Amino acid sequence: MQTQTFNHPTAFIAGWYWALPSCELKRSQVKPVTLLGKDLAIYRNADGKAIAIDAYCPHMGAHFAEGTVDGKGLRCFFHNWKFDEQGNCIDVPCLGKALPLQIKTWHTAERYGMIWVWVGKDIPQQPLPYVPELKYDECDALLGSRFLKNCHPNVVMINAIDAHHFNTVHKLPFEIIFDKQELNKNAITFRNTTRGGEKSWFIKLIRPLYKKEITYQMCYWYGSTGTVTVGPDFFHFHIMFALRLRENGKTEGQTILIAKKRSGLGGWLFNRAVLWLTKLVANYFAKGDTQVFQSIQFNLKTPTKADQSIVQFIQHVEGQEGLTWGSWETYSPPQSLEIRPPCLKVCTPNEIV
Ligand code: FES
Ligand SMILES: [Fe+2]
Repeated sequence: MQTQTFNHPTAFIAGWYWALPSCELKRSQVKPVTLLGKDLAIYRNADGKAIAIDAYCPHMGAHFAEGTVDGKGLRCFFHNWKFDEQGNCIDVPCLGKALPLQIKTWHTAERYGMIWVWVGKDIPQQPLPYVPELKYDECDALLGSRFLKNCHPNVVMINAIDAHHFNTVHKLPFEIIFDKQELNKNAITFRNTTRGGEKSWFIKLIRPLYKKEITYQMCYWYGSTGTVTVGPDFFHFHIMFALRLRENGKTEGQTILIAKKRSGLGGWLFNRAVLWLTKLVANYFAKGDTQVFQSIQFNLKTPTKADQSIVQFIQHVEGQEGLTWGSWETYSPPQSLEIRPPCLKVCTPNEIV
């Protein structure tokens, strides 16, 4: 299956990406962050706002993370030039005036305990990744584990909608069939539609907790960040797997555990327990597959009916704007690749012999 951006080692989708945890950037601090191959400095100004800028000073190239936050802006360490929160040079001490220079700033936002950066060329076109079920809710969040995988984030994402592997790897005693729905150009959900498993003692045991089908829903953002909603009818767990591309087409990921905010001290304590339980659920998800992502050379040469959701996800990723690792310019695939639209044909099991 040939693709234009999906699983290309230097391509990612224009969108929101996690940069660093909010708690690691105190007011008046500045930190170096390398995001998708680009060096940035991110600082929190006197107003508490996180500001992301290209890392190197237009005077002589010093890294801005060596500098000092000064009110709403930042001063370079080397010769103390000052830039405001829009990136305008507003003071060159040795000249006693400003110079008509502007450094590139990137839109930032904070959610689920994380600072996110919009890496697209224009102003943010789409919202920050969120759990659809909690779209309008205030949430508590806890950062889980940080991890590296030896393949592209697009491929790691697929695992959660690889229906067939739920039976082969996770021993789920029934077939899962997903219903997909595009929330917008950059977000797609896959929801389990099957009841099944009536012969299994385990499913019989948990059946009273599920009036209809077992709740299992994924939402993908920018082909790189996924949320999982899972659990019995009366209680749902929410986990976000926030991934970003590393050099050589690898993945760096951060798990974020999320719960709807509850009021008062009792609610806060209750949510600590919920988030702790959510961590156990997240660990369960991460187990079992870890090894395959160290060695996989993903190539869906022979899609079967059970791979339908994967094909839909690939098509969804292909429909988004691709950017290039390092430059964040529009991605164009290497010329040696023969490019054609992704294969739409999904074989039935009988066709695979
Ligand atoms: S290098 Fe930044 S002010 Fe000189
Ligand atoms: Fe899995």
